[in-house]
Amino acid sequence: MDDRLQVRSMVDARHGRVKPQIYADPEIYQLELERVFARSWLFLAHESMLPKAGDFFTTSMGEDPVVVVRQKDGSLQAYLNQCRHRGMRLCHADGGNTKAFTCPYHGWAYGLDGGLTSVPLEEQAYRNQLDKSRWGLTRVPRLATYKGLVFGNWDESAPSLEAYMGDMAWYLDGFLDRRAGGTEVLGGIHKWVIDCNWKFAAEQFCSDQYHAPYTHASAVQVLQASPANKSDGKPLGEGQTARPVWADALGGVQFGGQGHGSAFFFTEKPDANVWVDGAVSAYFRDTYPEAEARLGKVRALRLAGHNTLFPTLSWLNGTQTLRVWHPRGPNKIEVWAFCLCDREAPAEVKDALIKSHARAFGPAGFLEQDDSENWVEVQKVLQGHKARQTEFCMEMGLGHEARRADGIPGVTNYTFAETAARGFYQHWANMMSAENWDEIQALNASYEKELVHE
Ligand code: FES
Ligand code: FE
Repeated sequence: MDDRLQVRSMVDARHGRVKPQIYADPEIYQLELERVFARSWLFLAHESMLPKAGDFFTTSMGEDPVVVVRQKDGSLQAYLNQCRHRGMRLCHADGGNTKAFTCPYHGWAYGLDGGLTSVPLEEQAYRNQLDKSRWGLTRVPRLATYKGLVFGNWDESAPSLEAYMGDMAWYLDGFLDRRAGGTEVLGGIHKWVIDCNWKFAAEQFCSDQYHAPYTHASAVQVLQASPANKSDGKPLGEGQTARPVWADALGGVQFGGQGHGSAFFFTEKPDANVWVDGAVSAYFRDTYPEAEARLGKVRALRLAGHNTLFPTLSWLNGTQTLRVWHPRGPNKIEVWAFCLCDREAPAEVKDALIKSHARAFGPAGFLEQDDSENWVEVQKVLQGHKARQTEFCMEMGLGHEARRADGIPGVTNYTFAETAARGFYQHWANMMSAENWDEIQALNASYEKELVHE
């Protein structure tokens, strides 16, 4: 059977079934690099990280290393971080400012615009016959910015970034657009490795509200009991039990579409988030009127929950973690965690936020470790032959999808559901099997049409 059709048969989103081979098979992984990562819009950097001409940042698109560079005219470009002579990694720094990139192997040098500008011994070794104009860096052909987030795409025929995001932009705005002035990245980036497939992390952040009450139960008990994390600032009274956020929640929503997903609880409290320091919680309270004026009540109040923009960009409102799950083989990811803050927030709030962020979702964060322990163990189980053949159940909320009349867009369900997970895998299977973007979009549209009978 054709490779692509075989992969397609491993996902049955309509019945909520997935074959776990998709998380462990090296051949499927190679196909993902080509069909998913070389055709999707991938997050590269935040504009605040590259304010001046010559500023650069190195990252990767799938496993392809890239360097993003601020040009002299203020625009951004991104290039494959690979010297054209023998393929050496051109730039080894995480980021910085430069006038040129010089290869450490034989010394070829490239300008900010990616052009090859100088070659050692050009006269003697190349007899001045090398046409430098044809040996510039390989440019990422599509670059687009959305409210400070810079994305790249290798596929010239991909839809625009806005069309790719679709309804997910509405949910992303709740993270990026709380205040005038937008957001910025605070401090450096936490980077670490987890021995699991990238889809476990991306899918969990897309859809899985269900794990939180169980996986994070002990962390929530401790946090909720701390006076610093209670909006009234009072300790628990004797005999009082901490109530997690979902116990007081007034229901919630899960959205899934085009592979993206978002899930959260409704609340009436502007600081209903137990993961952040008291100063940050007070900041959310104080700035609530501005956020409500810009975003409306639902998104302004929404300070917890999960989000993934397919394939590998995830974020959590409130703790303000923005992360990329860089794939590093079928059984490994490199997590890059950025702390995103409103640019207009006072310095002491930024300081408190960055500490809260590290405490909850840094590499040793108390919530982070709960999550990664699960993914690593699932991946270990999948070393078994039988384990890789045994279907997973993804049936939660199946058949209860609906469109809402209250302005919350897209195909939705109750917050505890697997609508976004099913949509994530359906879109993945569509990308893995379709020849081009027209076909991917047609397959997505027919799947979504079947979900909601209007
Ligand atoms: Fe870069 Fe030779 S590999 S100069
Ligand atoms: Fe979690």
